[in-house]
Amino acid sequence: MNNIDWSSLPFGYFKTDYNVRCYFRDGKWGEIETSSSEEIVMHMAATCLHYGQAAFEGMKAFRGVDGKIRLFRPNENAKRMISSANGILMAPVPEDLFVEACKKVVKLNERFVPPAGSGASLYLRPILIGTGAQVGVHPADEYLFMIFTCPVGPYFKEGFKPVKFQIAEDFDRAAPLGTGRYKVGGNYAASLYSGQRAHDEGYSNCIYLDAKEKKYIDEAGAANFFGIKNNTYCTPKSTSILPSITNMSLRQLALDMGMKVEERQIPVEELSTFEEVAACGTAAVVSPINQIEDRGTGKVYKYAENPGPVCTKLYHTLKGIQDGSVKDTHNWNLVIE
Ligand code: PLP
Ligand code: COI
Repeated sequence: MNNIDWSSLPFGYFKTDYNVRCYFRDGKWGEIETSSSEEIVMHMAATCLHYGQAAFEGMKAFRGVDGKIRLFRPNENAKRMISSANGILMAPVPEDLFVEACKKVVKLNERFVPPAGSGASLYLRPILIGTGAQVGVHPADEYLFMIFTCPVGPYFKEGFKPVKFQIAEDFDRAAPLGTGRYKVGGNYAASLYSGQRAHDEGYSNCIYLDAKEKKYIDEAGAANFFGIKNNTYCTPKSTSILPSITNMSLRQLALDMGMKVEERQIPVEELSTFEEVAACGTAAVVSPINQIEDRGTGKVYKYAENPGPVCTKLYHTLKGIQDGSVKDTHNWNLVIE
């Protein structure tokens, strides 16, 4: 029996019963193993420790209104992890193996999948790391793929309430031809200082500009950015942002709602023309933004204090598909049986 107060869960680590692990050795992936240990043992010269051979994913399993457990678009996370692996020369995890491991870890931790309506979900954190020893700068020849789970609440403590962002012009998260499009640890290391400073200065996180021209909106902390105006969903096109699965889904929902969708460069000044702006991602879901301050120029862009109508509709449609209360017309959910 659980004694968890589901509705007040933060977004953070929470010990569950099991994790699953799979090792790449001698050029091939082994069987999916189950573990109840929170620890891993590895060589001190493992490439993940020195040369950043580390990628991860983030995804959620939801308990539906019908009691069923649904995973949201796990094949997309599998594909993205393959892209991340190829980007930093790691052994890619085959899509089928990835999805099998997701199903297994959710089933093993079924008692931690929060009830429908609690606002919480079971977060899956797949990781892929180079465990083989190297001292010269070379990729490893051994890898560990594992998934742990945590029941989580909202990423921003505000929940579905607008948050404030700061534009950090004096930091770059990723270079245009670098690793920003992959979900690799180094990108998050590069964002820690500016993210912490944004928190200390009273913001939820920072918005990065494109690193080359410093003119266009790039990434919104650990989430993508979108703006709404004239019945159009506008989101940055950039080689240095993570191709967000949430953003991809929202673009489809916007089209379904009869809106236009534009993926293009978004100049900073255009912020003054949007009716609504938001950050989106697995953890952030749809987080409306009510204020963006440009730390460099001091200019402040203000939006409504309450979530706008388009963000509200996108949020409820997405959540509804995930908990089974809205028809899943695009077949995004994988029901865990
Ligand atoms: N951008 C970054 C840097 C992220 O860490 C995330 C989170 O995964 C996203 C965007 C959103 O991607 P997704 O919607 O696939 O979770
Ligand atoms: C996610 O949205 O899953 C993320 O990975 C964001 C962050 C917690 C790293």
